[in-house]
Amino acid sequence: MRILFLGDIVGQPGVSIVKQALPALVARETIDLVIANAENASAGAGITPSVYRQLRQAGIDLVTMGDHVYKKQEIIPVMQEDDRICRPANFPEDAPGREFVLATARDGTRVAAFCLLGRTFMRAVDCPFRAADRVLRSLAGQASCVIVDMHAEATADKYLMLHHLKGRVSAILGTHTHVPTADEQVVAPGTAYITDVGMTGPYDSILGRRIDRVLGTSVTFVPSLFEVATGDPRMGGAIVEIDPVSGRAQSIRRVMVNETGSAAMTK
Ligand SMILES: [Fe+2]
Ligand SMILES: [Fe+2]
Repeated sequence: MRILFLGDIVGQPGVSIVKQALPALVARETIDLVIANAENASAGAGITPSVYRQLRQAGIDLVTMGDHVYKKQEIIPVMQEDDRICRPANFPEDAPGREFVLATARDGTRVAAFCLLGRTFMRAVDCPFRAADRVLRSLAGQASCVIVDMHAEATADKYLMLHHLKGRVSAILGTHTHVPTADEQVVAPGTAYITDVGMTGPYDSILGRRIDRVLGTSVTFVPSLFEVATGDPRMGGAIVEIDPVSGRAQSIRRVMVNETGSAAMTK
């Protein structure tokens, strides 16, 4: 079975390219389940209930979040009721929302997903390793494939999670840094890994934000609104092929679809 995982969806350009490109990619690659990190989907920080519904309708089955999870607080009731969106599992116990999500893929396989925040150069959170162990205990017997969204600033935090979880989950896919890396690999005995799948958003930008605003503020120290950029929207992700019985990953491949690629697929 094949899972498509999309990196941080950033603002309206990110949502639009998903709507344009996702159905055709799912059909072309015979994708069984789509998971996406949507922590930046609404104006670059957080997600509103309306955008969440749009992404679900566009074909995203499970949504993970990150450090921006509660930036649009109207999503909190949705996170408490809806069983397809989760908050980082290493948040405090009282943080609203689920620690993991579950869905049945098109081929009938039960798939679970959860996200973890790294601890380097990020706000203080609970131990991601112990949180991962706890979630895997809760999931015992409920899913043959488990996908982890490792949402961290430091590459080392992501590799450490790979070696903590290898053989226990199907894939560990990196987000938060918004820039795709070329280190996709399957580590024995069958865990797929990549440090960052790349954002789904405007690439003519500084990690999704307007270049003039971020550069101006960086040079002058005068604060400005870091609006979401618009140019060169792309859908960034990875396709992981998994043995549905053992849950072991067989391959991982990077995907990057721009507007031209999207138009070519829908012809
Ligand atoms: Fe992000
Ligand atoms: Fe983030």
